[in-house]
Amino acid sequence: MKVVHTIEDLRDQLRGQLRVAFVPTMGNLHEGHLALMKLARQHGDPVVASIFVNRLQFGPNEDFDRYPRTLQNDIDKLEQARDVYVLFAPDEKELYPEPQSYRVQPPADLGDILEGEYRPGFFGGVSTVVLKLFSCVQPRVAVFGKKDYQQLMVIRNMCRQFQLPVEILAHETVRDQDGLALSSRNMYLQPLERAEAPQLYVALASIQQQLQAGVHDADHLEKQATAYLNGRGWKVDYIAVRRRRDLNKPSRDDIAAGEPLVALAAAKLGATRLIDNLEL
Ligand code: PAF
Repeated sequence: MKVVHTIEDLRDQLRGQLRVAFVPTMGNLHEGHLALMKLARQHGDPVVASIFVNRLQFGPNEDFDRYPRTLQNDIDKLEQARDVYVLFAPDEKELYPEPQSYRVQPPADLGDILEGEYRPGFFGGVSTVVLKLFSCVQPRVAVFGKKDYQQLMVIRNMCRQFQLPVEILAHETVRDQDGLALSSRNMYLQPLERAEAPQLYVALASIQQQLQAGVHDADHLEKQATAYLNGRGWKVDYIAVRRRRDLNKPSRDDIAAGEPLVALAAAKLGATRLIDNLEL
């Protein structure tokens, strides 16, 4: 695997390549990331990964400074998995060379709801860096995990609206044996919190079961799941049953008509904020 830190070196490595498959990450790689790279490999050649902790998508009180930066460890994992041909690991000056940066602003009805409501500017920051990375790598396909469900939708929407010639592929959420979705932020959990963490998925699965059993009152299901977690000491930001196609609230008619739905959740356990979702 080649490790490059500049756009010039990246372009040198990729000259003439028309089938690049790309996996952007913020590093601290786990099995979930490695699964994205495996999928990328099935859909393009060469596979390019990036590692860049993007300041623009962190709020002022979020974990930008303490976000784990484990480049050598990540390189070792990628070398071992043998799916990635080039790793692009730029520094901030390389991706944001000027103090005032152009920004991509997602439409409010997608970017300012759910995660966007609790993390103002988050999807603008994600969209901006993904657009820059796409411009550097010029991939034909790019792979994102469904764990960040709304992020995946924002990026698909951006590609469509900017007519970017990139196909976006989604990988199913990779979970630990007890159901906890893999995330770099799981490492912040204390042992007791780690034991409790799968309950987020339990709460989503219970919504799924009840919907399948014919309970069509989404508000009731959201409230019940929220009360369940809050009662166990979580601090729920949101648990929301939404239409998969636009993340709008489904009407009772939508639900009765079998509209594809997804339940999305974000909640804090101690100091750690976890997100998860489940297609219903
Ligand atoms: O999902 C992530 O790791 C990040 O949001 C991404 C897409 C790499 C952009 O920084």
